[in-house]
Amino acid sequence: MVFGVGSSTARLMFVGEAPGKNEDLQGEPFVGAAGHLLDELLADINVPRGDVYIANVLKCRPPGNRDPRPDEIDACKVYLREQIRMISPEVVVTLGNFATKLLLRTETGITRLRGTRYSWWLGATLIPTFHPAAALRGGDRVKDQMRQDFFLVSEVLRGEVVTEPPQQPEEVSEPEAAQMELFR
Ligand code: URA
Repeated sequence: MVFGVGSSTARLMFVGEAPGKNEDLQGEPFVGAAGHLLDELLADINVPRGDVYIANVLKCRPPGNRDPRPDEIDACKVYLREQIRMISPEVVVTLGNFATKLLLRTETGITRLRGTRYSWWLGATLIPTFHPAAALRGGDRVKDQMRQDFFLVSEVLRGEVVTEPPQQPEEVSEPEAAQMELFR
């Protein structure tokens, strides 16, 4: 099981998809190639990895790295909920479609949702971005968009974004109810 890693007082929390082979072997999220890109993006905004908390939607590696199944997401979400509740971060960054769709309760894809921030549970700000593995496959354009999203993260952490964040995506008609469903 790969539970999560990081500071218990983190202001910033990342939620990925599921452990891969390296994570499974080492028992820590994002230690493989995708993790190295995450480290690079954090370094760009001067945030030490030790200051953040990192978790995944699934706590175990899906066989052959296949996509998480709905019943697996259901079985694991209580752990993620409690991790978020205990850490109580100011900013939650969802990495890729699985984390974003679960935490924003939407079917809209990451390409449309990223690039902005959303008001979220416990007064936190949620910022969706691509999964680092997608940037490794997708090249410089995807990486540049991730850099922009991380810059937004750093602005929010520094209190430099003064306008109100948008609410949930239109597809989520009752955000409060949708989040209660996730965190029940
Ligand atoms: N990809 C993820 O989504 N999580 C990890 O921990 C590693 C790779």
